Amino acid sequence: MIKGVKIIDLPKIKDSRGNLSFFENSNQIPFDIKRTYWIYDVPGGEIRGSHAFKESHEFIVALSGSFDVVLHDGEKEVKFNLNRSYYGLYVPNLLWRRVENFSTNSLALIVSSIPYNSNDYIRDFDEYKKLKNENEK
Ligand code: TYD
Repeated sequence: MIKGVKIIDLPKIKDSRGNLSFFENSNQIPFDIKRTYWIYDVPGGEIRGSHAFKESHEFIVALSGSFDVVLHDGEKEVKFNLNRSYYGLYVPNLLWRRVENFSTNSLALIVSSIPYNSNDYIRDFDEYKKLKNENEK
């Protein structure tokens, strides 16, 4: 496992008319939600991400279909296949990630702890490892 990363089960209100799940700011999710975005219409074989965030924490749900979130903590890589809309993956800051293996019509919902800020991105893996090492000293 990677420190801090966890699958969070969401409430599931079962109903013969169709099921319902939800999350609320600060309930279910271990941070204040400042932004929501989603990734969709991903052509087969494409990879999103391949970066880390300095500050941003995220929570990722496969609202539809499936995909893999591959996390790297600078030492090891762990892959999470997300394929249900009633749980999601909590990804703390300072973790390298890519998202891949999107199924047709998959929909990735992501909530973030900060508004969009291009300065929060680390796009160079060596730079990421250096920062991660410094952070853990
Ligand atoms: P980016 O995060 O680089 O995509 P990926 O998932 O592949 O890492 O974002 C792609 C583009 O979208 C980039 O130009 C910035 C823009 N963007 C926003 O404007 N707001 C957002 O909340 C996000 C996530 C991206």
